[in-house]
Amino acid sequence: MTKINRELKKHIEENIFPKYDKFYAHGMMHINAVIENMMMLAEYYDLNKDMAYVIACYHDSGLSIDRENHEKESGKILYNDMELKKYFTNEEIKIMKEAIEDHRGSRKIRPRNFYGECISDSDRDFDISILARRQINTTLKCYPNIKTFDVHFERCYEYICGRINASGVFNLWTNNPTLIKRRDEFQKKYLDKDYARKIYKEEWDKAKNDGTMEKILNYYEDY
Ligand SMILES: [Fe+2]
Ligand SMILES: [Fe+2]
Repeated sequence: MTKINRELKKHIEENIFPKYDKFYAHGMMHINAVIENMMMLAEYYDLNKDMAYVIACYHDSGLSIDRENHEKESGKILYNDMELKKYFTNEEIKIMKEAIEDHRGSRKIRPRNFYGECISDSDRDFDISILARRQINTTLKCYPNIKTFDVHFERCYEYICGRINASGVFNLWTNNPTLIKRRDEFQKKYLDKDYARKIYKEEWDKAKNDGTMEKILNYYEDY
């Protein structure tokens, strides 16, 4: 990965990453994937690499405080982190905070700055299995009345399809060519609903049998 300031990286590894320890859908597996996408975009668009890294690392850190407003809580965690003032100007901190606040995929308004577009696009799961696994977490935590796979799948499918924009594609703000390619491959498979259902069913059964569902309910803290 592109060189990130060593002291800054150490601070994040020691103080921010542990916040994700008890997260499942938003755990380090997700954070590392987002960091990788974000650094790819930072390279492509020649952005400030330290800022891109910080945004990716902090973007879901506020989840255990308030799911519905986790982007605001994550922004606060970044903004109140005095350590960051050693590395960034007030203006840079403001840009990072706004980017995090605007990162959610369900948001229909264009993020206020380009870093926000990048983190929003980096946050997408263009992989059906990973998406299916992460959504089991949401159903179990946020929709306790859903008891069957069929109802779960329909909820998830409708929610994800709500991210198709007026042009008929899963929304991307940056239109980065690497992400577009990934998005188009994903979209082709996802819109084959029987195929998507098959993958979701495999992940549902796996999570049920290997103890993941149990752990989501009784151990993990993210929603
Ligand atoms: Fe998020
Ligand atoms: Fe995320």
